Amino acid sequence: MLSPQLFDVQVIRDERGALGVVESGRELPFAPKRMYYLFDVHAGASRGAHAHQALQQAFIAVSGACEVSLTDGIRNWTFLLNDPSRGLFVPPGYWRSLGAFSGGTVLVVLASALYDENDYIRDWKEYLEWRDSLSFPTTLSVEG
Ligand code: TYD
Repeated sequence: MLSPQLFDVQVIRDERGALGVVESGRELPFAPKRMYYLFDVHAGASRGAHAHQALQQAFIAVSGACEVSLTDGIRNWTFLLNDPSRGLFVPPGYWRSLGAFSGGTVLVVLASALYDENDYIRDWKEYLEWRDSLSFPTTLSVEG
């Protein structure tokens, strides 16, 4: 079972500014198949409140700041993302909530698979049952 982990983005700076890069096999333990991003997030809004059964993701606040809270029902993590040169890898199986968005935040998400509503667990009780059914945390598999 992989743990959530912050990683450094490759940053290439020159007199014109900065360029950030993340690559499969380097910063990311998966090959992204999808990118989406959150922007125009309303003040006080919270997002997420679900888990993914198989999806691997990386979150990067390319502008602004937000908090990503993760739990497996036992352990809890909160990560402040406020730096375009730092990303957060989120393995499958964690319940996540996103909040504390500052104005103008753009949160880029790289995902290991195309959108699939069947991969979501959106009900907290269902999540706990699913997690128990896995003899969590040892049997979660990770797709390449
Ligand atoms: P959701 O993943 O619940 O967003 P968040 O976790 O940020 O609150 O998605 C919100 C809506 O957008 C939901 O109706 C599903 C849809 N959606 C897509 O159609 N494609 C996608 O790639 C994503 C991420 C969401």
